[in-house]
Amino acid sequence: MAYIIEFEPIGIRLICDDPLTISEAARQAGVSIRSVCGGKASCGKCLVRVMEGHLDPPAEAEQKHLTLAQISAGWRLACRTIIAANTCVYIPANSLTESQVIQIEGLETTAVPDPAVRLLALLVDPPSLSDQTGDLERVANALCQAHALEGVWGGLPALRALRSVLREADWQIEVALRGTEIIAAYPLGQHRPVGMAVDVGTTKLACYLVDLESGRTLAAKGVMNPQIAFGEDVMSRLETVLVEPENADRLQAEVVSSINEVAEELCAAQRLAPDHILDYCLVGNTAMHHLLAKLPARPLAVSPFVPALSDVLYIEADRLGLNAAPGARAYLPAPLAGFVGSDHLAFLLAAGFDEGDRIRLGIDIGTNTEIALQVGSRIISCSTASGPAFEGAHIHHGMRAAPGAIERVKIAEDGEIQCDVIGGVPAIGICGSGILDALAEMYRARIINERGRFQLNAPGVERANDDSLIFYLSKGVNGYRDVMLSQHDVDQVMLAKGAIRAGIEILLNQAGVAPADIEEIVIAGAFGTYLDPCNAVRIGLIPGVPVERIRAVGNAAGAGARLLLSSLEYRRRAQSLAKRIEYVELTIVPGFNKFFAKGVRFPTAA
Ligand code: FES
Repeated sequence: MAYIIEFEPIGIRLICDDPLTISEAARQAGVSIRSVCGGKASCGKCLVRVMEGHLDPPAEAEQKHLTLAQISAGWRLACRTIIAANTCVYIPANSLTESQVIQIEGLETTAVPDPAVRLLALLVDPPSLSDQTGDLERVANALCQAHALEGVWGGLPALRALRSVLREADWQIEVALRGTEIIAAYPLGQHRPVGMAVDVGTTKLACYLVDLESGRTLAAKGVMNPQIAFGEDVMSRLETVLVEPENADRLQAEVVSSINEVAEELCAAQRLAPDHILDYCLVGNTAMHHLLAKLPARPLAVSPFVPALSDVLYIEADRLGLNAAPGARAYLPAPLAGFVGSDHLAFLLAAGFDEGDRIRLGIDIGTNTEIALQVGSRIISCSTASGPAFEGAHIHHGMRAAPGAIERVKIAEDGEIQCDVIGGVPAIGICGSGILDALAEMYRARIINERGRFQLNAPGVERANDDSLIFYLSKGVNGYRDVMLSQHDVDQVMLAKGAIRAGIEILLNQAGVAPADIEEIVIAGAFGTYLDPCNAVRIGLIPGVPVERIRAVGNAAGAGARLLLSSLEYRRRAQSLAKRIEYVELTIVPGFNKFFAKGVRFPTAA
C-alpha cells in the first residue's frame, strides 16, 4: 500500500509503494543525506530522527553509533533504517550534504548605542587585615569613586562570579552592569560587551551576535527551528502541547538548545565564550514567545486566542536555559495579539512605521501573514491564516528554499518553460517564489483562468493517472523526479493569496484608504526578498501599485531585534508603538467572506 515519507526541515514529501531505507527514499526525493561510508553503517554521518511512524529496533551495526537515549528519541542511521509506512523524518543540518537557504540579512538600521548592559573597567583596592570590606561593597565603592555610580548591588550568580574573578584578575576587572546591578565580572581587557538578538520564527531561527557598544553585528547565523519536527505551523505546535502538555518542555528545550549551539559558534568565531553574552533580545510570534517563556500556550489555540500578557518580559537567561553571563536577562518585547507577535512589532520598528505620516503597508508573509497599515499616526494591523502554501507545504512538489528548489519560472511565448533552480542543480521541487512566479506566468499564458482553473486545451496541461489536470514545470531526467503543479496545488495558493489580500483590503477599508493612495508596500521575510513584485501584483497578492513603491526588507524582525538589543531608546519606542497599534480581528469583520472571495480571484485586468 502506498505511504508517504515526509522530510523535515526541508518540507519535501515522497509517495512510496515499497519498503525503502531512509537514505534511498531521500535520494528519490532529491534530498542528499551524507554517506561517507557508502551505507556500510560505519561512518555514522547519516544520522536522522524519526519523529512519527513505526520503527523496528536498530540492528547491531546501528547500535554502535547510537546511545540508548538517542534510540528512544527516534535517532537512526538513514542508510540502515527501512521504512514501510507513513513516516516523518527530521534530517539535522550535519547530516545534509547541502544546507537550506536561511535568510538573516535585513534592514541595516543602526541605533545610537544605548544598551541595557554596559561594561566598565575597574581597579579595585585589594582587601587586607585592616580593610575587611566585603567584595561586593569593595567593588561598589570603586564604582562610586571611578564612575560616580551610587547604589550598586549584585545578585547571587553575579556575586559568585565576582568573588573568583577579583582574585584571578588581581583586582583589575571589568564589571558588567545593568543599571546599578552587577551581572558579571571579567578580568580587565579580555572582553567586549556582546549580546544576542534572535528572531525565533516558526520555521527558522535567525541569530545575531551584536557588539553592544557599537551596535554592530559581529556575526550571524540562521538555522532551522528544530520544533519543526513537532509540526510545520503554529497551530500544529500548539496542538502538540494540547495533546501532551509535557511536550511544551520538549519544544522549549529544543529551541533553546539550538540557540545555545549557534551562540557558542558565533562567540567562538569572536574568541568569546557564551558566558560573555550580557543580554538577549528574543522576538517571535506569540506562540513561539509563550513556548520559549514557558507560559501556558493552550489559550492561544482556543477562541478568543488572547496572549498571557501584552507587555514586555524580562526573564533571567538561565531560567530559560540560555547560556549567558551569570546575571544576564532575556528581553522579550510585547506580543501584540494572539496571532500578531513581537516579531511583527520588531519589523514595524525597524521599518520606521512609528515615524512619518505616510500611507504605508507592511506585510510579513508566512503561515500566518501579519499585515499593518500606517495612515499618518494611525497604525492598524491584522493577522490572516494564509497557510503554508507559499512555504511549499501542501503542494505536491513544494519544498522550502533549498538546493533543488525552483525559485523562478518564465513561460516564453512559444510555451517553453524556463526554471531557475537554487544551487544550479536538477529541480526536485518548487519553493514559494517559484510557486508565485509559476501562477503568474500560467495566468498570463492563459493556462489557468482568473479563478485559477486549468484550461484543458492550454499547452502543457495534461491529465494525470487519477484524471486530474496537471502542468509540468520540469521533466525529470537521469532519475530526478518531475516537478509539476496540480489543480489542487493552484487551489491552495489561491486560498493563501485570498486570505492575504482580504486582510489588506479590510485594513484599507477600515482606514478609508484606496489602494492607489498607498505610498509604499514594505514586504518582510525571505519570501518577500525573492518574490517578483510584478508577479505579486499580477496575481493580486498585493494591490496594484507601481512596482517602485514595493520594497523588500529581508529579515526585518531580526533587524528590529538587534535595534532593541542595543538601544534602550528603541525599547521605549517599541513600547509606545505596541500601545498605538490597533489590532483588527478579521474573523469578526462584517463582509469578511466577500473580501476573501474577491481576494482569491486573479485581477481581471492582468
Ligand atoms: S552512510 Fe555511513 S553510517 Fe550510514
